[in-house]
Amino acid sequence: MIDVALCPSEIHRFESIDLSETTAVVFDVLRATSTMITGLEHGVERFFPVETVEAARALKIQDPSLLLAGERGGLSLEGFDLGNSPAEFKEIRGNRVVLTTTNGTVALHRVRRAKRVYVGALLNLDSLAQVLDREGATGVLIVCSGTGEDFALEDAVAAGGLVDRLSHNSLSDAAVLVKSLYREASSDLLSYLRQSRNGRSLAGIGKTKDVEECARLSVTQTVGVMHDDTVVKLT
Ligand code: MLT
Repeated sequence: MIDVALCPSEIHRFESIDLSETTAVVFDVLRATSTMITGLEHGVERFFPVETVEAARALKIQDPSLLLAGERGGLSLEGFDLGNSPAEFKEIRGNRVVLTTTNGTVALHRVRRAKRVYVGALLNLDSLAQVLDREGATGVLIVCSGTGEDFALEDAVAAGGLVDRLSHNSLSDAAVLVKSLYREASSDLLSYLRQSRNGRSLAGIGKTKDVEECARLSVTQTVGVMHDDTVVKLT
């Protein structure tokens, strides 16, 4: 069965649910998971996704060689090395990065006990689907990170793109819904991302380029996977 968690209120439940037989795929298309895929593609060694700014700072105190990255309200945080724009992560090859974002890293944290946890983006959709099909995963939970406490259009579109690519034929109602949405959106993904609440917020703070970057479909073979509460490139 492929199921989809459409919004954060569904995600909150997962910490108390047994996910030991579940393969989870987390999408935060604008921008956390797109940023991680971009970083891993360009040689970032490892991401440490954490829920809070305080947790990020505490990790840096333990290991000053870590880079601190993230956002609140889309904007970089005081004293951090990087924000949450994918382009910033193309030049930091070899580094290990602590990342804290409003929704994406929180969603990853909530499902970290699943059998496998993959990081999804429009950027790597074809490769991600190939990996899941190859594994023959039977219980797949696609997690849409959302915006604040709300549903986010861009995550649902990407979730639908993944459902559309998987050979699995047992779909929950939510999986059928997002698959239809993707088929409607796929001829112009950038327009969908631009009209989303996140897309408009990012444009409002001068980050239109990030939206364009994250709307590109299957441009990398990089797949991120969680390992010991960190995210690394699947090899
Ligand atoms: C999030 O995790 O909520 C997003 O990545 C926010 C953002 O676009 O910076």
